[in-house]
Amino acid sequence: MADILTSLTDVSTDTRYNQLADNLAEAIRRGTLPAGSRLPSVRSSAQTHGVSINTVVAAYRRLEDRGLIEARPQSGFYVRTALPALEVQHQPHAPAAKPAEDVLDLIDTVFAAQINPAYTNLSLACPQANDFYPGAKLGRIMASLLRRQPHLIGQYALPPGNVALRQQIARRSLALGMMLETADITLTHGCMEALQLALRVTTKPGDSVGLETPTYFYLLPLLASLGLKAVEIPTDPQAGLSLDALELMLNEKRLNALIAMPTAQNPMGFTMPLAAKKRLARLMNDHQVPLIEDGLYAEIQFSDALSPAVKSFDRDGWVLFCTSFTKTLAPDFRIGWIAGGRYAEKLRKLKAVSSMSESSLLSQTLAVFLESGGYDHHLRALRRRYAAQVDEARALIARHFPQGTRATQPMGGFVFWVDFPAGVDTVVLFQQLLDEKICMTPGTLYSPSGRYRNGLRLSCCYPFNARYTAALARLGQRACEMSGLPPGLATTTAEARADETRTS
Ligand SMILES: Cc1ncc(COP(=O)(O)O)c(C=O)c1O
Repeated sequence: MADILTSLTDVSTDTRYNQLADNLAEAIRRGTLPAGSRLPSVRSSAQTHGVSINTVVAAYRRLEDRGLIEARPQSGFYVRTALPALEVQHQPHAPAAKPAEDVLDLIDTVFAAQINPAYTNLSLACPQANDFYPGAKLGRIMASLLRRQPHLIGQYALPPGNVALRQQIARRSLALGMMLETADITLTHGCMEALQLALRVTTKPGDSVGLETPTYFYLLPLLASLGLKAVEIPTDPQAGLSLDALELMLNEKRLNALIAMPTAQNPMGFTMPLAAKKRLARLMNDHQVPLIEDGLYAEIQFSDALSPAVKSFDRDGWVLFCTSFTKTLAPDFRIGWIAGGRYAEKLRKLKAVSSMSESSLLSQTLAVFLESGGYDHHLRALRRRYAAQVDEARALIARHFPQGTRATQPMGGFVFWVDFPAGVDTVVLFQQLLDEKICMTPGTLYSPSGRYRNGLRLSCCYPFNARYTAALARLGQRACEMSGLPPGLATTTAEARADETRTS
């Protein structure tokens, strides 16, 4: 156990118990501390780590709140039985493509509910409370910039965009293993524009684009709007995109481009293992097919050692890395960026045609914030908070959802995937819950063939207040009614039943 805990002696008590809790949570997640195992006694933990008994008690209480351990009277603290993992590979269906308009209509309904304060949102991936963003700091920087450099709002920051921000981005990219020059980067209007530009420079109407299944729902109407065909590629809940399936498609020349989220994927939460990321980069380079890497959640990884971007293994410039500051700093700024590899020059020109430029004031505000070191501090707090909220959500699912429910274990970000046992139709559930002013996103949104009726994505980017937890419990209750199964952790029988459903 000692080796999984880093030195706890040189940090404040508050940070110390959080750090101890985080390290233990990571050990539980990785299986180093398996379900049912007993944690060392409070006294011996305190001795081992050179911290006070109060610090250990606070850390254990924190883990209890996160649903990871439980206290047993007269006996000590034990790792709780985990929510059954989703192990079955998600396979694509025969392409019975549902119209992109259907997806857009459903997304419209979901977004309308999200902006209506009467609804409790369980699924959308947009952190909504102010304390998820460093709003006050950004506000101060912006006010000071406007005072000292009023010319910022009187000019176009023509593509590739504000140089100070691109310098900061290039510097920060090293943490994800990428060696980028300022000139490699073009600022975009969020990650969405980066993805769109990447598709436009790498494909032409009628081309086929590979996608993980399930995938981020907006990619489906995006491809349709560019006249592109979506080709689903199976994913494994832990290892991510099936590289064997991908290799087959590349050998058969069935793909003109691929969009993938190899780190903290939306909606599953997986991060591809390092070897798989290297193989993915090699495959794309060998076949000379562009990979559009959506790295939106890459900076919100739960482990301290960040898994590198696939772009960091890009030999000949076939990987286009797209991301934004939407999930971490300020969705309203709409500032994203793309490192376009061999397409960088084309991208820069297309950006001007697409939306001309990004705001100088907003870009410069971010540049100053990044340079101040404030971003790293903010990211550390965000990673800790999301990891804890994901644990809490999983604990609630284990308590309230029908037996046989399975869930992915995200490695970062704040979304994960839930598979219900037989009899639960999340499209019907979606409608039922809308009537109760609870909004979620049914699994069918996440694939072009409209499958995953028994799945849904959950999002943990909201404050975990009584309202959120009650809505989650209500979702579980409705699913229990629909399936006829009682709530609680899956039994062997229920798991078997869930397996039968999936394979039938
Ligand atoms: C995986 C993924 N890519 C791209 C986007 C769009 O990002 P942006 O808001 O920066 O345009 C989102 C937004 O939720 C997302 O989840």
